[in-house]
Amino acid sequence: MSIEIPEGLTELLQSFTVEVLRNQPGDLLEFALQYFTQLKDSEIRGAAFGNDQNSATRPSGKAVNFIEEAMQIDSENGEEESDDEEFTAPVMSRFIRRASVCAEAFNPDEDEEDKEQRLSQVTHPKTDEQRQRLQEACRDILLFKNLDPEQFSQVLDAMFEKFFEVGEHIIDQDDDGDNFYVIERGIFDICMRVDGIEKIVGAYDNRGSFGELALMYNTPRAATIIATSPGALWCLDRLTFRRIIVKNNALKRRLYEEFIESLPFLTSLELSERMKVVDVLSSKPFSDEEQIISQGDLADSFYIVESGQVRITMKRSRTKKDQEDEEVDIATCSRGQYFGELALVTNKPRAASAFAVGSVKCLVMDVQAFERLLGPCMDIMKRNIANYEDQLVTLFGNSTTDIEGKKL
Ligand code: CMP
Ligand code: CMP
Repeated sequence: MSIEIPEGLTELLQSFTVEVLRNQPGDLLEFALQYFTQLKDSEIRGAAFGNDQNSATRPSGKAVNFIEEAMQIDSENGEEESDDEEFTAPVMSRFIRRASVCAEAFNPDEDEEDKEQRLSQVTHPKTDEQRQRLQEACRDILLFKNLDPEQFSQVLDAMFEKFFEVGEHIIDQDDDGDNFYVIERGIFDICMRVDGIEKIVGAYDNRGSFGELALMYNTPRAATIIATSPGALWCLDRLTFRRIIVKNNALKRRLYEEFIESLPFLTSLELSERMKVVDVLSSKPFSDEEQIISQGDLADSFYIVESGQVRITMKRSRTKKDQEDEEVDIATCSRGQYFGELALVTNKPRAASAFAVGSVKCLVMDVQAFERLLGPCMDIMKRNIANYEDQLVTLFGNSTTDIEGKKL
């Protein structure tokens, strides 16, 4: 005999269980009654607004303006006054949380800001398998690196999966921003209109993220993103992105403003451009002797040393054939110095390796941000690249590696 499981039952029970575990209600029955009443209520409201799950948080340009007004987000300082009572995205937990009297009792120390955050929290239920894949896809996303565990968990809760076919546009240049996207799989071209001509300026290959600029700076989409293979993306709605990531960036600006101001290689940037650099940087710790870069690897990041020392080494062949290559120290980078730019500038594999000496913290930037933001600093960087060859000649007598940067 087979018993048919009604569609949606698993998700329904799963999300209810999650809410129970989160809120720890004293009276389970009362909580269940409120939960399902509110759920039904939100479903009816959702139907009235004609939203589906994927477009729930940003159904149209008009709605976006309305939401933005309601949120009164100050894009410069990232602070927001959440007055979004009328914003009725049909997402379960937002309503449930607002209704949960029990949750109040279990958070006596919660301040007003925490409460507002909890009320505007979005949850898209996920299976264990989905959650695992999502966590894996988000592991190296730089914008998430500075979040505390609670914020990161809220971000994961709010993300939902979308699938794309070859040729589909995920983002169109000049549109309003709806979501931020993290790649689960697939290849996506980055196209930009330059002087009226559409050009492919890059591609994402099965990793990375995009769509943060319009959400961070309230600007139109800066590029078009097209799937060139079947793909899957995790989407984070604009409101959650602004509530968590943009707010976090405001703190980051305060934290790193002085340090970034002091970096000589960024002097060609305007103040506002330097702040944009801070927005895309994320701080990454490394333990003693940990390898940060491996010679010969493909490159996707640029590093600035925040604290500690980084040893740059290069392989040198031994004279005898059966002997392994020798790893030779060629430079040391300390606070304020950068490395990992050469492969990004030359489009070649990493020319050397980098290792942490003691505990090290680096500010890391991805290749897309590097190309987008550090163009004006290229002259200074190329001058330094030109010195690498001399440095190697001094060390080895003659250059063992072709430093392509010289030819730039
Ligand atoms: P956004 O402007 O929201 O939407 C298009 C996205 O393309 C943008 O955010 C970036 O995430 C991404 N992108 C990748 N390369 C570039 C680039 N060179 N200039 C602008 N945006 C880029
Ligand atoms: P990249 O090739 O991306 O990764 C290794 C980094 O080591 C390289 O960029 C430079 O930033 C840094 N480096 C320091 N000294 C040298 C050198 N003499 N030759 C090549 N790379 C060097």
